[in-house]
Amino acid sequence: MVYGFWVSRCLQTMAELGLADIIGDVPKTVEELAKATDTHAPSLRRMLRLLSGLGVMVKDEGSQRWGLTDLGAMLRKDNPGSVYGSLMAHGHMLSWQAWGDLKSSLKTGAPSVEKFMGDTFFGYLAAHPEDAAIFNGSMAAYQTLNAPAVVNAYDFSWAKRIMDVGGGTGTLISHILKSHPLAQGAIFEMAHVAAEARARLASMGLKERCDVVDGDFFASIPKGQDIYILSQILHDWDDEKSLRILSNIREAMHPNSRLLIVETVLPGDNTMHFGNLYDMAMLVLVGGQERTEEEYSALVAKAGLKVARIHPTSMPPSVVEVVLA
Ligand SMILES: C[S@@+](CC[C@H](N)C(=O)[O-])C[C@H]1O[C@@H](n2cnc3c(N)ncnc32)[C@H](O)[C@@H]1O
Repeated sequence: MVYGFWVSRCLQTMAELGLADIIGDVPKTVEELAKATDTHAPSLRRMLRLLSGLGVMVKDEGSQRWGLTDLGAMLRKDNPGSVYGSLMAHGHMLSWQAWGDLKSSLKTGAPSVEKFMGDTFFGYLAAHPEDAAIFNGSMAAYQTLNAPAVVNAYDFSWAKRIMDVGGGTGTLISHILKSHPLAQGAIFEMAHVAAEARARLASMGLKERCDVVDGDFFASIPKGQDIYILSQILHDWDDEKSLRILSNIREAMHPNSRLLIVETVLPGDNTMHFGNLYDMAMLVLVGGQERTEEEYSALVAKAGLKVARIHPTSMPPSVVEVVLA
């Protein structure tokens, strides 16, 4: 535990150097890799040796070439579900500074990242397209693994109109639409993300089946959908702001609409759980929080909603199915 961040820093640096893509399917010598990444070969060799011990790289002693293991191949950008984007997003210098200042978040309850970004997390992304592309890419890659689990866990077949609120660049809705050819989809997003979503959906041949609406979920949310999805949205916000989003969805729902909250539900028993770690990231980065089943039930109740059922998935998030109270 003491040295955990040394490991993540080596993986983040591997991503920053683009090592996995440079190696691809063809193992290379240290000298070739040092030249391609403009690094100091003897120092790079030391990091490769560590990465090999971590099961990410493998060296062929005969040819003296370094290749990727299956685990290491997860850093390749072209690998579905690649962790490249997550390493780049969480290895970002501002994210490092925020974690370095965890103590200030503990003292104030406010996200320390805002000191370094000079803005809220999502406000900063709206003004910094390159960083937004990294963040959106990390979300999309994660959803490549998560979306099939959500589609398996919940029966979408009854719904004609499905809106993913804060749906990023469209990975989750595209999986739902592909497995339910009669459904019409929609994404509701901030303008800069909506623009990227339109281009991605068009490239997937889903332009006609998925509207992309620019907007602010704190202001209002379009009416008339059978299913509203909030995937990894409420964990970005404190209870007060989450309640504003939920109340806007409550306003938009018709009597048979469902709201699907796709979030990691904390066990609430203080055992080690990935969600409890992520909860700290929400504290320093966005000022949000992960929640237990009881906390979700209490939160939605304040917006005139109730939890009907929780559908576990094969991935960390569950699908919390919510109806009008
Ligand atoms: C953690 S990401 C989740 C993306 C996607 N739902 C997923 O599960 O991969 C949060 C998303 O909320 C969007 N968002 C943040 N503030 C918003 C606002 N005020 N109105 C609409 N969308 C917003 C962001 O642009 C971002 O795509």
